Amino acid sequence: MPCTVTVGGFYGDEGKGKILAYLSIKDSPNLAVRGGVGANAGHTFVRDRIQYKVRMLPSAILNKSTKLLIGAGVLLTPRILFEEIEKYSTVNRTMVDEQCGIIEESHIRQDVESEHLRQTVGTTGTGTGPANSDRALRRLKLARDIPDLKPYLNDISQTVNDAIDQNCGVLVEGTQGTYLSLYHGGYPYVTSKDVTASGICSDVGIGPKKVDHVLVVFKSFVTRVGAGPLQNELSSKETIERGWTEYGSVTGRLRRSSLFNMDLAKRSVKINSATELAVTKMDVLFPSCAGKREFSKLPDEAKFFIQEIEGETGIPVVLIGTGEDIFDIIDRRNVR
Ligand code: IMP
Ligand code: MG
Repeated sequence: MPCTVTVGGFYGDEGKGKILAYLSIKDSPNLAVRGGVGANAGHTFVRDRIQYKVRMLPSAILNKSTKLLIGAGVLLTPRILFEEIEKYSTVNRTMVDEQCGIIEESHIRQDVESEHLRQTVGTTGTGTGPANSDRALRRLKLARDIPDLKPYLNDISQTVNDAIDQNCGVLVEGTQGTYLSLYHGGYPYVTSKDVTASGICSDVGIGPKKVDHVLVVFKSFVTRVGAGPLQNELSSKETIERGWTEYGSVTGRLRRSSLFNMDLAKRSVKINSATELAVTKMDVLFPSCAGKREFSKLPDEAKFFIQEIEGETGIPVVLIGTGEDIFDIIDRRNVR
């Protein structure tokens, strides 16, 4: 079974949570392991009208046979982690790397009170930037320093590499999106780490040759929350009129929006070395896609849209989101 790394192709909020939750049930990987920054990301998804949201655990919570791991590069907010472990009853299948960094109240305070971070950058105020700054200064506490985390501590790099070597299925979960990368995004309007596929692999402790698929997730339109340029940005009035209204899942802020941006998509494919693509929320762009589960049933304009992405990027679109439920999806992986 393969190792798949999933990352956001734009500015986060592409719908990775839904894609990951679907894959975790459909493919039943042995391990799902989260990379990325930390609790600044919220992955939301719906199954049978029930909404789930995770900020610390991987989005594979619904499959009880999948172990839920958090890589060394991810910052832990212990309070949020414990709440999610309790809420989703995952005590016996959660493992965190002993070298995960720890966010303390002081980091959250610094994030919220810094004019530069909150006003200029427009951060989520979850303390991730100040904590990564302390990590670079080598004074951040790690998971191994926190007694309450003891039952969950593990060597995640070892566990994931062993699983891959034994041919087990591994789903590696990125958070945020390519253009929020500290290195490859539009600095300074970015998050506090690299969040491209290579960065996510590094968070988890696997090398590039261990990865079989790099799945880059795009949404059928672009959204951005927080400050920084957004090419061809629509007014909030037009965003609402088009029905593209979304609110940040961590901060509740109205997301800014623009049309699908092919230049950004192509660059993202390159930076991440995408081998396959997902496009979510096709039913928001083309309402007649709603609930469709076969490509042949899509309206022509939707087919053209997908074919144009494939033509321009040279990469197959294998998953297409057509509604809120994780099973509102077209899975073309077997018909390549
Ligand atoms: P920080 O990661 O909280 O420091 O915020 C830095 C920038 O990244 C801000 O523009 C945030 O809105 C954005 N950001 C961080 N995490 C996410 C996410 O999960 N989705 C969308 N935007 C995010
Ligand atoms: Mg989100």
